[in-house]
Amino acid sequence: MPPASGQSGGKSGGELKQAVLLAGAGRMGAAMARGWLRNPKAAGFGKLHVIEPQPSEEVADWAKGGKINLNRKPQPVDIAVLAMKPQGFAKAASGVAAWIGPNTLVVSIMAGVTMRTISAALGVTKVARAMPNTPGAIGMGVTGYALSSKCGEAEKAATEKLLAPLGGVVGPLDETKIDAVTAVSGSGPAYVFLLAEALEAAAKAAGLPDAVAAELARKTVIGAGALLSEGGDPADLRKAVTSPGGTTAAALDVLMAPGAMPELIRKAVEAAAKRGAELSREAEKKS
Ligand SMILES: NC(=O)c1ccc[n+]([C@@H]2O[C@H](COP(=O)([O-])OP(=O)(O)OC[C@H]3O[C@@H](n4cnc5c(N)ncnc54)[C@H](OP(=O)(O)O)[C@@H]3O)[C@@H](O)[C@H]2O)c1
Repeated sequence: MPPASGQSGGKSGGELKQAVLLAGAGRMGAAMARGWLRNPKAAGFGKLHVIEPQPSEEVADWAKGGKINLNRKPQPVDIAVLAMKPQGFAKAASGVAAWIGPNTLVVSIMAGVTMRTISAALGVTKVARAMPNTPGAIGMGVTGYALSSKCGEAEKAATEKLLAPLGGVVGPLDETKIDAVTAVSGSGPAYVFLLAEALEAAAKAAGLPDAVAAELARKTVIGAGALLSEGGDPADLRKAVTSPGGTTAAALDVLMAPGAMPELIRKAVEAAAKRGAELSREAEKKS
């Protein structure tokens, strides 16, 4: 992507840097900015412009330290990242539009706001729509993304670089798959937290003191996640703790019975994807 003309660019290693706007520096937006500022060379762009009505202390400090331009006068940027709440987008759109040039790539992490809505509101054709998840706030998330048809290799690379501070990046996918991504990884942390809650409740029911139950459940989920992060296949890891006729096998006979955990999770993901599609349609009607 060539930098937008007249940008705050500047030279670095002989390359013009791109101007980037972050609209919304809440939990997710700030997590991305933190990553970009930690490693500006890897992020590969010039000074970051941030618009945020209520900057946190951290964001205000970045501005005081000259790391970002906060709530300054708009100028067309190469990339605009939309990280405000979806319900705030319609109101925010006119403010963001002042930062949009003819070639601006818009990268949105807003849940349920379609590329069509974004293109119509901002008059852009290059749009990336991404679905992160809450572990992204500590760089341990996974984000699925889709690109509009006007995006090429440069926009793909820029999008992946921008999303990298949130954790893993998966894509590009067709936009029609974003509801499924939302249902699996967007909502997915809640399923795992529920597992931790249920395990804690079961530990108490099995007679363990409250504090012990809480610690055993929490650390079991954390430890299993850490083992999984080493790269093994989840089914292999499960089989490795399951001796035939043993205690784990007795539990898994219950959890894997017809209609039990695998089927429930499939139904839960189906319900979430259906709700995601409904919410997108409702948002589109309102916009
Ligand atoms: N958290 C998640 O797990 C998750 C997962 C997937 C996708 N997302 C998406 O990520 C986006 C951000 O989520 P979040 O959890 O980071 O929300 P958040 O903490 O509420 O951050 C949104 C920020 O945008 C600011 N904002 C509001 N109007 C604005 C405007 N006109 N211009 C610039 N900034 C504006 C808000 O300021 P005020 O506080 O003043 O309103 C707030 O600081 C959402 O669209 C959400 O759908 C989040």
